[in-house]
Amino acid sequence: MRVLIAADHGGYELKTQLAELMRKEGHDVVDLGAHSYDAGDDYPDFALAVADGVARGDGERGVIVCGSGVGAAVAANKVRGVRAALCHDTYSARQGVEHDDLNVLCLGGRIVGSALAEELLHAFLGAKFSGEERHKRRLAKVLAAEARLAAS
Ligand code: RB5
Repeated sequence: MRVLIAADHGGYELKTQLAELMRKEGHDVVDLGAHSYDAGDDYPDFALAVADGVARGDGERGVIVCGSGVGAAVAANKVRGVRAALCHDTYSARQGVEHDDLNVLCLGGRIVGSALAEELLHAFLGAKFSGEERHKRRLAKVLAAEARLAAS
């Protein structure tokens, strides 16, 4: 799978580890930075790079790591077509895709350890939108709200 990944200084280390893992596992990984540790960088720059890329179709899924994962999710969800969520449990990381068509996983590099982060990533990448009628109906309501916002 083609996956876009990025992180600010709060997620830099974890991002490097996850990008390496995905490459080892055969994914086509695009690392959108940060490309070196910079304590003064800003999470929206990296979150929006991934979100814009996913919205354009440059990658099927995105992963953003910041210190808590919160800022990453807030920023990424400003981009039309992006459904980003902070998931620190594997149930949500999997079900977010199956039910809600989650396309961007946000993680907190200061919150989760590396073993859990890898499991979260596997749960997210291994899941597919179920396509069930009730989930499509709910997603259509979310997309209609997104369209309303874009038109306002
Ligand atoms: C950066 O210090 C930190 O605020 C950022 O990585 C993130 O946690 C924001 O949500």
